[in-house]
Amino acid sequence: MTPTTNKALLQWVAEAKKMCTPDRVCWCDGSKTEYERLLEEMVAGGHAERLDPKRWPGCYLFRSDPSDVARAEERTFICPKTREDAGPSNNWMDPAEMKALMRKSYAGCMKGRTMYVIPYSMGPIGSPIANIGVEITDSPYVVVNMEIMTRVGTKVLDTLGDSPNFVRALHSVGAPLQPGQKDVPWPCNPDVQQKFITHFPETREIWSYGSGYGGNALLGKKCHALRIASVQARDEGWLAEHMLIVKLTSPKGKVIYVAAAFPSQCGKTNFAMMEPTLPGWKVETIGDDICWMKRRPDGRWHAINPEAGFFGVAPGTSMKSNPNAMRTVNRNTIFTNCVHTPDNGVWWEDMTDTPPASGIDWKGKEWTPDSGTKGAHPNARFTAPASQCPVVAPEWEDPAGVPISAILFGGRRASVIPLVTEALNWQHGVFLGSIMGSEMTAAAFGTVGTLRRDPMAMLPFCGYHMGDYLNHWLKVGKASETAKLPRIYYVNWFRKTADGKWLWPGFGENSRVLKWIFERVTGEGKAVETPIGNMPTPDAMDLGGLDMSHEEVEELLSVDRPAWEKEIPSIREHYAKFGDRLPKDLSAELARLEARLKA
Ligand code: OXD
Ligand code: MN
Repeated sequence: MTPTTNKALLQWVAEAKKMCTPDRVCWCDGSKTEYERLLEEMVAGGHAERLDPKRWPGCYLFRSDPSDVARAEERTFICPKTREDAGPSNNWMDPAEMKALMRKSYAGCMKGRTMYVIPYSMGPIGSPIANIGVEITDSPYVVVNMEIMTRVGTKVLDTLGDSPNFVRALHSVGAPLQPGQKDVPWPCNPDVQQKFITHFPETREIWSYGSGYGGNALLGKKCHALRIASVQARDEGWLAEHMLIVKLTSPKGKVIYVAAAFPSQCGKTNFAMMEPTLPGWKVETIGDDICWMKRRPDGRWHAINPEAGFFGVAPGTSMKSNPNAMRTVNRNTIFTNCVHTPDNGVWWEDMTDTPPASGIDWKGKEWTPDSGTKGAHPNARFTAPASQCPVVAPEWEDPAGVPISAILFGGRRASVIPLVTEALNWQHGVFLGSIMGSEMTAAAFGTVGTLRRDPMAMLPFCGYHMGDYLNHWLKVGKASETAKLPRIYYVNWFRKTADGKWLWPGFGENSRVLKWIFERVTGEGKAVETPIGNMPTPDAMDLGGLDMSHEEVEELLSVDRPAWEKEIPSIREHYAKFGDRLPKDLSAELARLEARLKA
């Protein structure tokens, strides 16, 4: 018996079944029983290990195939009808050609496996900002992760009713089983060239094949909530962004909500769960990765976290860097590619000062700290329910969302960009977001240390032409009442001295920047106008108790004019990539910045 009479859904599931020929079809109800049953089946089948129920209750460890460890950007495609609409930052193929190619891979690809149908809601079910999708997958690992990361089940189908408007997300690990063939621990297609993570934005479809890992396979996250949703947001006048959301409470009990976009690997999860060092201030988590914002009848921009869990990078997470994440992942958590310790627990680099004496590494081999290799893969992950975070804000699931007062943009820049700058207005803020970027820490996208500009941290996640995307941001500003728009800030925690030392302690000390932003949006904070924007006056930031010299504070909070002048040609080069789709208002902002720097 199918749990729905939705014709469009039944027809789509029937088509997928015909193409992929699974042995059976299972409609997921999102129940705890189903979740536990699937995990136990995976343990029995040699795909996962159940961790010590006393120290790690409800926790499991998976090890992926070594070929399948991260998002595959080079295999990610955005396929609207024309190449122009995908823009210069996305891989593109004609949608009909892509479908023909992928149909060949999908033919019979679920043989010997179960096809799971996962109805999910991105955002609290029924919220006016939420959106429904259905993922079809042959991976039970995907099912249990989706059950943590999204709201899954029958209630979603009830809310969808007969509507044909849902995102269709088809996924296969691409590893059919012949009769009697024993499954491997992590089925996938190990040939990278056979992996595809494809988006058809015009028809709100996602087709993913060959990978079982993270954003390639948990299609509600990057594929739906960012790439497809960015197109929906453009068409419907809202924003789908790669942003965390936090609630900030002052010692007097006044609350503001802040969203922040940082490229991957800039500490978004740490920031979202920060323990402020400033006495009396409180930071609570609404979300750590994605933010959907809509203008509501009060004229303000209200945000929801469309996710229900955290899919965080484990290495580097510790009681020092992010105690609240450590307290979140100590139960009911799925770990992938961590070290399996002799006491049936998990460990990853920098979790503790002293590593375990031995363990099984992410490749399943005996490992010791002297092995000369990392025990956990650098992109090892935890999947944990957001509800378990000790500092999750009570309103994190409010269907109405939370009104955003400030948006932060930031990247990893050793020089040029000061600790904090306030945009002069919305358009100038969009300009700042459009030029943000990070110096690379891993060679994945270029040479270490080179600057990768990543507008609004959306470069790998924007489902259409980046020039049009920037224009959409400008349109949002024009359609809103200025006083009700969030203020925009450009921040940089990663400034270094000429001899390579960190200038700013970061982590909980970032609450000092949040305090200034709070004071600005509530009308008390002091600022001076500079050529690059408004900056705190030397006495406006609370730096009490920090071990910093006057010169260091100066360096962090002043405009390095020669460095900014050198930045101009590099911004121009970045803008040139968007051709005639670069909004004129942004080239005008660049010209104004240049003129102000010369004045
Ligand atoms: C993520 C990413 O995993 O941005 O969140 O890569
Ligand atoms: Mn992210």
